[in-house]
Order: sequence, then structure tokens, then C-alpha cells
Amino acid sequence: MYTITLVPGDGIGPEVTEATCKVIAAAGVNIRWERFEEVGYAGIEKQGQPLPDEVLNSIHRNRLALKGPVTTPVGGGFRSVNVSLRQKLDLFVNLRPCKRLPGIKTPFPDTDLVIFRENTEGLYSGIESYDERLEIADSIARITRRGSQRILRYAFEWVTANQRRRLTAVHKANVLKLSTGLFLEEARSIAQDYPGVQFDHLIVDNMAMQLVIQPDTFDCIVTTNLFGDILSDLCAGLVGGLGIVPGANIGEDAAVFEAVHGSAPDIAGQSKANPTALIRTSALLLHHMGEAEAAMRIERAVWRAYAEGTSLTPDVGGTASTEGMTDEIVRLVTDHCA
Ligand code: NAI
Ligand code: MG
Repeated sequence: MYTITLVPGDGIGPEVTEATCKVIAAAGVNIRWERFEEVGYAGIEKQGQPLPDEVLNSIHRNRLALKGPVTTPVGGGFRSVNVSLRQKLDLFVNLRPCKRLPGIKTPFPDTDLVIFRENTEGLYSGIESYDERLEIADSIARITRRGSQRILRYAFEWVTANQRRRLTAVHKANVLKLSTGLFLEEARSIAQDYPGVQFDHLIVDNMAMQLVIQPDTFDCIVTTNLFGDILSDLCAGLVGGLGIVPGANIGEDAAVFEAVHGSAPDIAGQSKANPTALIRTSALLLHHMGEAEAAMRIERAVWRAYAEGTSLTPDVGGTASTEGMTDEIVRLVTDHCA
């Protein structure tokens, strides 16, 4: 029996986390969930803070969490709970594998990308100020040598351990010479320790264009926080959309598993949310826990659900509800003839 923190989040969060917990249970892994609903707006309303200490304490204790998306107000309001959580727990890796599922029509069906996004610094450092008198706003893109080294080292190690072929570092060192220049300098230096990995680097705007016209020529991508955020939504779009792409935030002491997508207020509460992204995220969680067989069963069940194509949500071309798709994946997970 494992104890894991569960943050359902808001918007479509509760719908997709409920679906995911059902699928994990069907895969036979016994988990006692420590559940925290009061984060984000609900945290402010009920406890006066968007990210209550009890949530952080629970993740510190359990070292693992499954998390749904949490809405962040645009412009003013409270700071992103998602960004704060990653920084407070020092979850410096944001791993986002983007691979198509059967039946999804895309111009580049062989696209199979893994993004490593630095998750704690860069333009998301939270160093922001506004000078009322001069009417000037500053957001500081702080990049540290240590922060760059650890994400780059993690990416090179992962590429080697998973027998991938190529790692592309993405930067803007032509203009942001000091901050992303430091990241590039470390990338070039660490690459020398990994002669088996085909290493190259590209400027982010060029990378965005290359990803749209020939994504299947790339393999793994490592980049700073803001670029990783933007490029991972782009890569999700290349393989079928945000409804299918999983993710993991990993640090030395804890890991928080969450999909790439947000709270999708446009479809929340309508049973239209695709649970696939968080279900695949749970397979990453189970792998991380050493429950490889259960993880494989979930991955295989998702694969089969897409190959059949009869119980898919509207974002991937079907007419099923969130529950309908979940029930089908649960059935396939428990189908021992699989
Ligand atoms: P979003 O990712 O929530 O939605 C973008 C588009 O993708 C929408 O059309 C939505 O309907 C669709 N979509 C997303 N997930 C889907 C799913 N599972 N199934 C079917 N369709 C799906 O991005 P948006 O609208 O920019 O952000 C909404 C809120 O989410 C904002 O408050 C933002 O700050 C927050 N957010 C939270 C994240 C997190 O908790 N890690 C990550 C990204 C955004
Ligand atoms: Mg994002």
C-alpha cells in the first residue's frame, strides 16, 4: 500500500483525476490518496492562501503527488500555484513526452519528442516588480549555472539510459546573451561528457518553425523554463493536442505528476475533458514507483482504446464523454486476454 498526495485541482481537474484514480485502481496498484481540494481559488476562499502548507508538507512526506491543473488568474491576483509548487519542492525537471496515439491523424505520424524543460528559474523565477512612478514593469529571467547544469545533466543521462539518439538544446543566446548564453555554454560543455549522444543547439524561433515543418527529424529537446512551456504546447499540438500529453515534475526529494494541459475552463464540468493525458501521466508515476507492469498495462490499454477508436472524447474526434472513455480504458486494463 502506497500513500500519495492527490491534488485534483479545478476546472477539468477533478474530472480527469477521478478518471485516473479509477484506472490506477483497475491496474491493481493499491494507493491511499491524501487528497487536497483547497488549492488555487478554493485555497484562497477556504484557507486564505492558494497553496496551503499542509499540501507541501504532505508532498514532502510522501515524496510523490498526482496533480490536476490549477487555474491561475491572468494579470493580477495570486501567483501560479503550479510554478510555486515546482519551486518550493525544487522540482527542476519538467519531462514531457509527446508521441502520437493510433488513429490520430497528423501530418507527421512518426513524431516522437521528449521535452526537458527547466522548471524552477528563467523568466518564471518570480522576480517581478512594477515602478509606479516610472510606469515600468520588470520580470527578471534569472538563470544560474547550477540550475542549467542539473537539467542538462538530467537530460543527457535520460537520453543515454533510454537509448534515444539526439538532444537539441534550445536557447536565444544571440539576444539574451548572458542568461540563455549561460545555459548554452553549459550545454556545450556537458555534451562533451556524452559522446554517444548526437548533440546540437538551435535558437528558439528557428526551432518553432522547424518543429512545425519537420518535427519527425527531432528527438529530445532541453530548454529553459519559458521556451519549454511554449514549445511543449506546440509539440502537444503536433501529436494530437493537449488532451493526450503526459508530464512529470521531478526533483531530488519529490516528484509531482501532472499533464501538460491547464484547467480548460471552456469545457469544464461538461464531461468533455479527455482523461488520456493524466492517465498516461499516471503510467509515468507508476514507472517512477517501480510498478512497471501496472504502468505497461495502462499504456497498452490507452493504446488499444485509440486503436479501436470507438470511445474517444471530442478533442480527438470522438463523441464519448470523459466517463465513457474512462470506462473503456478501465475495461481494457482489466482485460487479461490483452
Ligand atoms: P488549457 O491547457 O487549459 O486549454 C487550452 C485548450 O486545450 C482549451 O481549448 C481546452 O479546452 C483544451 N484542452 C486542454 N486540456 C484538455 C483535455 N484534457 N481534454 C480536452 N481538451 C483539452 O490552457 P488555457 O486555457 O490557456 O489555461 C486555462 C487555465 O489553466 C489558466 O488559468 C492557466 O493558468 C491554467 N494552467 C494550469 C496548468 C497547470 O495546472 N499545470 C498548466 C497550464 C495552464
Ligand atoms: Mg504550459
